[in-house]
Amino acid sequence: RVFKIVTIPGDGIGVDITEAAVAVLQKLAAVSGTFEFEFTEKDWSSKKYQERGYYMPEDGLDQLKKFDAIYFGAVGWPDVPDHISLWGLILPIRNALGQYVNVRPTRVLRGITSPLKDCGPGDLDWVIVRENSEGEYAGHGGTTHGAFSHAIATEVSIFTRVGIERIFRFAFETARSRPRKKLTMVTKSNAQRHGMVLWDKIFTEITKEYPDVETDKMLVDAMTVRMTLHPKTLDTIVATNLHADILSDLAAALSGSIGIAPSSNLDPTREFPSMFEPIHGSAPDIAGKGIANPIGAFWSAAEMVRWLGFTEAADGLMAAIENVTEAEIKTKDLAGASDTKTVTEAVCKEIEKV
Ligand code: NAI
Ligand code: MG
Repeated sequence: RVFKIVTIPGDGIGVDITEAAVAVLQKLAAVSGTFEFEFTEKDWSSKKYQERGYYMPEDGLDQLKKFDAIYFGAVGWPDVPDHISLWGLILPIRNALGQYVNVRPTRVLRGITSPLKDCGPGDLDWVIVRENSEGEYAGHGGTTHGAFSHAIATEVSIFTRVGIERIFRFAFETARSRPRKKLTMVTKSNAQRHGMVLWDKIFTEITKEYPDVETDKMLVDAMTVRMTLHPKTLDTIVATNLHADILSDLAAALSGSIGIAPSSNLDPTREFPSMFEPIHGSAPDIAGKGIANPIGAFWSAAEMVRWLGFTEAADGLMAAIENVTEAEIKTKDLAGASDTKTVTEAVCKEIEKV
C-alpha cells in the first residue's frame, strides 16, 4: 500500500531533521516491502511568512486533509514573534484536524545516559498523554487598558466535559494497554479552582469504567519532584495542554536530551490525518550547523509507522535507532561527536540489518 505523507519542515533544525526522517522512512519502506511512502513537501515557514504574509494558504488545512499523515519539523524563528508562528501553523493544524491527543512517550534508550543515576536503559518508561485541543491553549482572552492606561491581558483557559472525558478515556485505554496498567492524573486543582476541579470530578467518574487500571492524582508542581526523585513509580500520565507541555520537556531531559523525544498529535477517530513531530523546536542556536539530534524525529517517524498499522516495522526502526546510540554514534547534545548526517546514515544501515 502507498501512503501519502505531507511534510512540513518549517524552520531552523526542523528542516534538517525532516530531511533525515524522510531518508529513514524511505529506507524502512524499501526494506519492509509491504508499504511505500509518497512524500509531498509544503514550504510553510517563518521565512515564507515574512515574504508573503501567511504561513498556510487559505485552503491549507483542506490541503492537509487529503493525506494519510502529516510529518512536521518545527516552527518559530527569532524574526517573528513566537505566538504568531505557533498560531500561524502548528496550533491551527492540531485544532482543525481533530488532533485532541498528543502522545509523548519517554524511555532511556540503549547507549544513552540519563542524568538520574539509578535510571538505565528501559527506565523512565512513561507515556505522557497531553490534552491537545483546549485548556490553557484555547486561545481565548485579550488585551485592553485599565485605569491610567495600565495594560491588562487575560488568558482564559477553556475546559469542557466533552474534551476532558475524551482525553481521560484515551489515557485509560493507553494505561490499560501497558503492562503496569497505571495512570497518574496531573492538575493544579488547589489553585486553579474551576477547570481543574472539573478534571478531578470527571476523573473520579471515568475511573469507575476502568477497574483494572490503578490510578492516582498529583499536583503539577509536586509532579516535577516525583518525576525526578521517584521516576519508577510512574507509568501513564495525563495532564492539560500546558502542564503536559512542561512535564514532557522535563521527561525528555531526564531521558537524556530534548533532541530524543517524539510526539504524535492524534485524531483517534481517524477522520483526519494525524501529525507526527519531535517535541523540540527550531533550535536557532544550532540551526544550519548540521548537528541537530535526529533521534526525536526518527522516533516520531516510528510512531507514524505504528499509527499507520505497521507495528513490526516501527519496532524495527526503534531497534535500529538503539543499535546506533549503543554504538556511540551520537550527536553533541548526547555527549557524542557525530553530526546529523552520520547518525542518519548509521540508522539507515542498521535498518537493513534488523
Ligand atoms: P528548542 O527546543 O528549539 O531548543 C531548546 C534547546 O534545546 C536549544 O539549546 C537547542 O539547541 C536544543 N535542542 C533542541 N532540539 C535539539 C536537537 N534535536 N538536537 C540538539 N539540540 C537540540 O526550544 P526554544 O529554544 O525554546 O524554541 C526555539 C523556537 O522553536 C521558538 O521559536 C519556539 O517558539 C519554537 N518551538 C516550536 C515548537 C514546535 O514547532 N512544535 C516546539 C517548541 C518550540
Ligand atoms: Mg513544548
